[in-house]
Amino acid sequence: MGRDVIIACDFPEKSLVMDFLDLFTERKPYVKIGMELFYSSGPEIVREIKKRGHRIFLDLKLHDIPNTVRKAMKVLANLEVDMCNVHCAGGSEMMRAAVEGLTREDGSRPLLIAVTQLTSVNQDILENDLMIERALPEVVDHYASVAKMSGLDGVVCSPHEAGRVHEKCGKDFITVTPGIRFADSSSDDQKRIMTPEKAREAGSDYIVVGRPITASEDPVAAYERCMTEFIG
Ligand code: C5P
Repeated sequence: MGRDVIIACDFPEKSLVMDFLDLFTERKPYVKIGMELFYSSGPEIVREIKKRGHRIFLDLKLHDIPNTVRKAMKVLANLEVDMCNVHCAGGSEMMRAAVEGLTREDGSRPLLIAVTQLTSVNQDILENDLMIERALPEVVDHYASVAKMSGLDGVVCSPHEAGRVHEKCGKDFITVTPGIRFADSSSDDQKRIMTPEKAREAGSDYIVVGRPITASEDPVAAYERCMTEFIG
């Protein structure tokens, strides 16, 4: 399984992300495009960034009835994204429909990963809002197993959980982990952070890094530092 650094391009508009990507003249980083940019700029932003030679994780977290998700995924597969995601909470039928929709006629498809529980959900929300009366780690483990059984490729999780997910679902089940910070950088609003080097040791397959690169005075140097620490 190829390890890589994915830059979270959390910019509010297209011109800002394009100016940012213009800085990378040598290596073309893997980038994550989220809802804000996709909804403001539309699918064209994916085509343009692909044309520049970047791989794209389109982070739209689909969650709807199986038929709707199947059709939406077909559109994303045609957009040639490299990785996309769904909420496990949609259930196994929805996740299997997502895999079907993503699979192109030649059998190829983008990687599909699952959100188990959002990191903003705590035990209190789980019990009182969602009426799930189990411990949060147990719910996350179970959702990861259901994602694997539904044919998905992996999950988004904290690097602190990557080892446990691999133990439960196998080493080929991908862990995509945000919450990454250099030893000497600010943690911003992230609560449970890890350095790129420690994330590698913990078994992360892909690290998602935003502000330590995008808000750096020298984003290219910060990205290269991340690659060196994570890939070695
Ligand atoms: O700037 P920073 O490195 O904190 O960005 C992390 C990225 O990963 C953001 O796009 C954030 O929305 C995303 N993310 C996260 N925690 C999750 C899931 C996604 O930080 N559990």
